[in-house]
Amino acid sequence: MRLVRLIANLGYGSRKDVTALFRQGRITDEAGEVLYADDKVEHAAIRIDGEPLDPPAGLTLMLHKPTGYTCSTKDRGQLIYELLPPRFRERSPLLSTVGRLDRDTSGLLLMTDDGALLHRIVSPKAGLHKIYEATLAQDLRGDEAVIFASGELMLESEQTPLAPAQMETLGPRHARLTLTEGRYHQVRRMFAAVGNHVNSLHRPSIGGLSLQDLPSGQWRQLGPEHLETLFGR
Ligand code: URA
Repeated sequence: MRLVRLIANLGYGSRKDVTALFRQGRITDEAGEVLYADDKVEHAAIRIDGEPLDPPAGLTLMLHKPTGYTCSTKDRGQLIYELLPPRFRERSPLLSTVGRLDRDTSGLLLMTDDGALLHRIVSPKAGLHKIYEATLAQDLRGDEAVIFASGELMLESEQTPLAPAQMETLGPRHARLTLTEGRYHQVRRMFAAVGNHVNSLHRPSIGGLSLQDLPSGQWRQLGPEHLETLFGR
């Protein structure tokens, strides 16, 4: 790919903006030699104002999403993209979320610009376990785990029952759910279906990947080794 397009696709500006950066001599190699738009150079060797370029296409990251942020590129209120470098919102291909978390849900959110990877993660075939910890408005009744595991629970306005889900009781109003699907507001609707209400919801892990020490609001780029952990190999 020509350098102007490659750099513009990373969100550094329009092709016209990037052409201007070349003209101003702000794009160099590692040694500070000025680069020209038709040079052939490795991504890793390019500097803009002395800084290495953002990661190339194929970027995957995990974000510790705080509550109060929406998984959208445009919406009212705070957006998860505000937690990332501003250029990440301008990339092409688009860096999109792998599934979504509600505005009021915190936890592990994956983002990628790799469409094939995204489909692989959300595919029912992958059967990746998504863990949720819910704090509830009412005490658990005691029959929830059996209902959720039945594979027969039908949520309002759905055509097919939910796949079996595991529930572990952590306290009278505190439960951990393991899901293999990701239907709209699934956890909140599951608890609503058994007469309860989710007060707060957190997702600590997806597949073999967990938030571990990643602080709320922070993100980390994922490499092949993290993807192996995610898919449990
Ligand atoms: N289920 C929900 O209800 N909300 C989420 O954000 C994720 C799963």
